[in-house]
Amino acid sequence: MFSKRTNWNLEPNALSEALAQHRASGKPLLDLTVSNPTACGFAYAEAAILRALAKRESLVYEPDPRGLQSARSAVAAYYAERGIVVPLDSILLITGTSEAYSFILRLLCDPGDEILVPEPSYPLLGFLAGIEDVELVPYPLVYDDGWRMDFPALESAISPRSRSVVVIHPNNPTGHYVGDRDADCLAALCAERDLAILADEVFLDFALEGPSRPSFASRHDALTFTLSGLSKLAGLPQMKASWMVVSGPEPAKQRALDRLEVIADTFLSMNAPVQLALPTLLALRPEFERQLLARVRANLAELDRQLAAQSRCRRLKIEGGWYAVLQVADAASDEDLALQLLREKGVYVHPGHFYDFSAEGHLVVSLIGRENEFAEAVRRLLSL
Ligand SMILES: Cc1ncc(COP(=O)(O)O)c(C=O)c1O
Repeated sequence: MFSKRTNWNLEPNALSEALAQHRASGKPLLDLTVSNPTACGFAYAEAAILRALAKRESLVYEPDPRGLQSARSAVAAYYAERGIVVPLDSILLITGTSEAYSFILRLLCDPGDEILVPEPSYPLLGFLAGIEDVELVPYPLVYDDGWRMDFPALESAISPRSRSVVVIHPNNPTGHYVGDRDADCLAALCAERDLAILADEVFLDFALEGPSRPSFASRHDALTFTLSGLSKLAGLPQMKASWMVVSGPEPAKQRALDRLEVIADTFLSMNAPVQLALPTLLALRPEFERQLLARVRANLAELDRQLAAQSRCRRLKIEGGWYAVLQVADAASDEDLALQLLREKGVYVHPGHFYDFSAEGHLVVSLIGRENEFAEAVRRLLSL
């Protein structure tokens, strides 16, 4: 009765089983995987958010497949603040970055076509591709006092069925931005090989040091889809408000936009209240960003302070985003380590294999949890 593409193994893995048991036992849990900003004690401008969602214009249905012009203008203003001119008709509003990925895969890929994705990276990509009958082909990121793309490996992963190279800028969980030189090389490669760039920039504004990094939305050398949204930038994942910007050489850019408009028109997935609220929600973003960056920096400083007292575990370098990667010397299996941490210390972390690290011994910790809980969780982790 069901499609092969949904023939997933739905059995819980050992870690999720252990987590369910831990929760059922009522024992306290220190969660180093928290990624929901609305559950981390940040102060939101509640009254302004609620007011923005209650506009009178929401009572009228005026669908626009690319999204309401007022909301697209707010997105264009976000890029204008970074010195990038984005025409309104190059922006598509969409309910979540995941849906944006899905639209782009439908636009670019026939069943069995391939997209190249960084490894390690965000585990949802496999599901997003699988649902569209698209094959994920990993290209390795290499760590050498900082992460970078491995271009020879990327080039050798390209096949006649490749349609796009995905970059996550900065990447989840490695926290590195695509450097300017890598971005230029990538664009040249994609232009030459007729591949689109798919740049996921949901964490773009969370640079931990140095200036803000350039957005791929400013690129015109290869067909480029730049994804972002309110879920991370404004800490409002529940609004389901995201966008994509299409840039690149003509006529490919216009042809992509025309086809995307048909895909978007088929779903018309954005709701009116959120689109009408989007200008206000985006304008509230700096206050969330300030709190978030203060939290991440404080947790990172505490992590480094505790790490300095031992030598078994080190933190890999990060430039931005909400996560840190720990590397544990001589760890046989990061899954076993995560299980042991949960059972013996009541601390929940993600093992590196969730993100396809090429070697064992990596743990991924979220940096957005409350400072006191974070510090205690790290203490327990290092005690193990
Ligand atoms: C790299 C990356 N892209 C996209 C998303 C999902 O964003 P959205 O809530 O807009 O679908 C996440 C969520 O964690 C993410 O880490």
